[in-house]
Amino acid sequence: MSPYKIAVIVGSLRRESFNRKFAHALAKLAPADFVLKEVEIGDLPHYNQDTDSNQPDTVKRFKAEIAGAQGLLFVTPEYNRSIPGVLKNAIDNASRPYGQSAWAGKPAGVIGVSPGAIGTALAQQHLRNILAYLDVPTLGQPEAFIQAKDGLFDADGNIGPASRQFLQSWMDRYVTWVKKHVG
Ligand SMILES: Cc1cc2nc3c(=O)[nH]c(=O)nc-3n(C[C@H](O)[C@H](O)[C@H](O)COP(=O)(O)O)c2cc1C
Repeated sequence: MSPYKIAVIVGSLRRESFNRKFAHALAKLAPADFVLKEVEIGDLPHYNQDTDSNQPDTVKRFKAEIAGAQGLLFVTPEYNRSIPGVLKNAIDNASRPYGQSAWAGKPAGVIGVSPGAIGTALAQQHLRNILAYLDVPTLGQPEAFIQAKDGLFDADGNIGPASRQFLQSWMDRYVTWVKKHVG
């Protein structure tokens, strides 16, 4: 059977992003029949409705990658108690033209890392709100608000021992969730 393709969308463009590092470490907890691949969002233009009838190649490429995936995994920081603008821009770009959204029906996981104590909780809620409108079902439980602190990663960039069991169970639930939706 062919593997489940998961498009991973990281909401940070920062070179040393904790969220990107976390996304890659989390991907290692997925089973062999799941292929998780980060999709580039940094090259997307500012969304402009004027281009709906002639979308730039980068937008077409992004939409094709989303369309070709069976599931989505959003790994995002929180910016000013919401999602970063670059993530909203990516979501908007792939949602148009009206009626040709790439998102509809793709099951999604929502997770993120922050040095702050509430670990992206508010960004995740805002993201769930947007995804609900786009007809993207999101895994509700377990919620995962991860604080970036010493020990989150081991020396090899894997999830460290203190968080591994919880994040493995998160991944297991996510995998079941995707399979349930994809069939
Ligand atoms: C513009 C901006 C706004 C931020 N707002 C929040 C916030 O609302 N909540 C929070 O926990 N951290 C906030 N932070 C701190 C980020 O969580 C921190 O910079 C984090 O490392 C960003 O994720 P990254 O490492 O994946 O780039 C903010 C950072 C920036 C640059």
